[in-house]
Amino acid sequence: MGIIEETRDQLIRKSLMSDEFLDYLQENKLPLDTMMSNYRCAIMEIETKFNVLNEQFSLQYDRNPIETIKSRIKSMDSIIKKVRNKNIPLTLASIQKNIHDIAGVRVVCSFLSDIYLLADCLLKQDDITLLERKDYIQNPKPSGYRSLHLIVEVPIFLQNEKKMMAVEVQLRTIAMDFWASLEHKLRYKKNIPAAEANLLAAELIDCANISSALDIRMGEIRERIAKSYPKI
Ligand code: GTP
Ligand code: MG
Repeated sequence: MGIIEETRDQLIRKSLMSDEFLDYLQENKLPLDTMMSNYRCAIMEIETKFNVLNEQFSLQYDRNPIETIKSRIKSMDSIIKKVRNKNIPLTLASIQKNIHDIAGVRVVCSFLSDIYLLADCLLKQDDITLLERKDYIQNPKPSGYRSLHLIVEVPIFLQNEKKMMAVEVQLRTIAMDFWASLEHKLRYKKNIPAAEANLLAAELIDCANISSALDIRMGEIRERIAKSYPKI
C-alpha cells in the first residue's frame, strides 16, 4: 500500500471512529431499535391475551381452543420492500402508520367455530381497537387461502408512556394452516411453464376445498359429541 492510500485509510478510520460519527449512528439506530422493541412488546401482549383465553377455556370446558400460537416480527428487508412497493415515505412514523403487519400473531385453532369465538373474545376487550377485519374464510382468496385476519391496535405500557401498536392477527384452523404452509412453500418454486402452473393452481384450490370440507365435518362431529355428552 502506497503512502497516499495509507494516509487516506487512516483518515477514514479516524473519522469513522470519531465520537461525532458514533453519536450519529447511535442517534439513528435507537429510534429504530425502539420501534422494533415496541412491536415485540405488542406481540407479547396479544399472545398473553390468547393464552389467558385458552387457560380459561381449558378450565371451564376442559378443552383448548388453541392448538399453537406462532408469532413473528417482519424483517427489515421485508419492511423496506413494502415501503418501496407501497410508495410511502421512508420514515419511522410513516412505516408505523402504513404498514400494519410488522407484528404478526398466528393463532391456530382446533375447530372452525373456535376462530370466531376467539376473535370475538379478543375484540370485546376494552383495550383492543379493531382497525381492519378480513374474513378469508367466508371469502377465500382466489388461491384458495382461508383465515380470519384482524388488524388490531393494542396498548403497551412503557416506563413513562402508553403506546398504541398495530398487530396483525391471523386466526385459522389446523387444516387451513396445513394448506397455507405447503402452498407457501410451493408458491416460490419458479420456472414452471404457464400451462403447468395453471394446472397446479387449480389442484391447490381443490386441496383447499377438500380441507375446508374436512374442517366442517370435524366440527359437526364435535357438535354431535357435545350435544349427547356435554361434559366430554
Ligand atoms: P401483504 O402485503 O402480503 O401483507 O397483503 P395484504 O396487506 O393484502 O394482506 P392480506 O390480508 O392479503 O394478508 C397477507 C398475509 O396473509 C400474508 O403475509 C400471508 O401470511 C397470508 N396470505 C395471504 N394470501 C395467502 C395465500 O394465497 N397463500 C398463503 N400461503 N398465505 C397467504
Ligand atoms: Mg403481510
